[in-house]
Amino acid sequence: MDPTIISVLTLAAYSIYFMLPAYLSNVSALTFGGGAPLDFGRNLKDGRRILGDGVTWRGTIIGTFIGTVIGFLQGIVAGDILLGATLGLALGGGAIIGDAFGSFIKRRIKIERGRPAPIMDQLDFALGALIFASLVVNISFNMIIFIIIITLFLHLGANIIAYLLGMKEVWY
Ligand code: CTP
Ligand code: MG
Repeated sequence: MDPTIISVLTLAAYSIYFMLPAYLSNVSALTFGGGAPLDFGRNLKDGRRILGDGVTWRGTIIGTFIGTVIGFLQGIVAGDILLGATLGLALGGGAIIGDAFGSFIKRRIKIERGRPAPIMDQLDFALGALIFASLVVNISFNMIIFIIIITLFLHLGANIIAYLLGMKEVWY
């Protein structure tokens, strides 16, 4: 195979592996989330919810925890458990924070909980994860571009599956 194709595929595979704590944190929040909202139902001065009912305590705690566990396991594989767990916490927690920040922005621009905000819905969690992870390790510009493109497709695919399984009300 053409060496450029091989290096592109290698970077793609590595990007997905690197982002696993963020992806699984996001999926865990979706799967196990629910219950009390993180904003306790409170509104901001604009009369709209701070975050809305789609950002819950359970999803936040479980998502961050699962991200950290995945990072811990990757750390065992890589031979540096502390770095793996730290990166898992940064990616998993960062994904939750990025997603919550996306919800915060959506409420401010009057988009109801669960209504679509294209591009932001797909990327808020990945950008949050990358920002926090970049405090722990260097992430090359090429990889950031790769991760953004891959995440767009993975997120859409995952949401369509979640919709078909009846876990989500809408397919996006
Ligand atoms: N979820 C959660 N806690 C979080 C993040 C997500 O419980 N911190 C769960 C919620 O059940 C949420 C679902 O995962 O409904 C999907 O998340 P997301 O698509 O981000 O939320 P939406 O319901 O679409 O709400 P929003 O408009 O605020 O994005
Ligand atoms: Mg969201």
